[in-house]
Amino acid sequence: MLLGPPGAGKGTQAERLRAEFDLVHLATGDLLRAAVAAGTDLGREAKRFMDAGELVPDAVVVGMIRERLSAGGSASFLLDGFPRSVPQADALDGMLAELGMPLDAVVSIAVSREELVRRLAGRWICRRCGRSFHEVFSPYGGEPCPSGDGTEPCDLYQREDDRPETVSNRLAVYEEQTAPLIDYYRARGLLREVDGERTPDEVHDGIVAHIPASPAG
Ligand code: AP5
Repeated sequence: MLLGPPGAGKGTQAERLRAEFDLVHLATGDLLRAAVAAGTDLGREAKRFMDAGELVPDAVVVGMIRERLSAGGSASFLLDGFPRSVPQADALDGMLAELGMPLDAVVSIAVSREELVRRLAGRWICRRCGRSFHEVFSPYGGEPCPSGDGTEPCDLYQREDDRPETVSNRLAVYEEQTAPLIDYYRARGLLREVDGERTPDEVHDGIVAHIPASPAG
């Protein structure tokens, strides 16, 4: 599980870990944005919370995760952006116990508020492959999008909830509702802490040092 504030680099790191460790990447933010784009009832309900930088109700995200974990067979999962509150963490505990799946490690990525604001303000995401770029820290180089036919470039956009006023609420919501999970998992002996204010490669190496299994292939 990757735990960290908005902009800590969870999505950036998850993309690499997923491929290296052959993991199913479960990111509630991505699942919710897909539901919004598809115009489903769930997406319509979620959108007003997301646009305001608030958490989507626990029952909605817990239901989404339950469905995917149950359908996953023997796959190993990387949770990104879930759980995000103590009730969600309690629900996850119950689900994992029912499915007989152990939680190997919870990696908390720490980044200062000033840096988070800089990262979110300059973030660009590809609609097709989902990769995150940053106009200063990791600019898109114009290479073909890996999800396209090998000739098309990435199709970049900025997220609506990366506007400064929404970012400030997302950070406040993180402190109030999600940060308590650091102590929650520390008390269970599962917490591993990584300094997220280094280069993406260095953060990656810091995370890998805490992952019990070896990379696939
Ligand atoms: P979600 O999509 O999960 O957003 P988030 O947690 O706010 O995280 P972000 O995606 O903004 O940041 P990240 O940590 O992935 O950083 P990234 O790698 O992109 O959630 C969105 C919304 O959905 C929530 O607000 C909520 O409404 C709802 N939601 C989701 N899950 C929920 C749940 N469980 N319960 C209830 N509601 C839920 O990196 C950021 C930028 O920094 C990029 O530009 C990147 O290129 C750059 N960068 C990354 N690493 C580095 C580095 N080491 N150095 C320099 N730059 C870097």
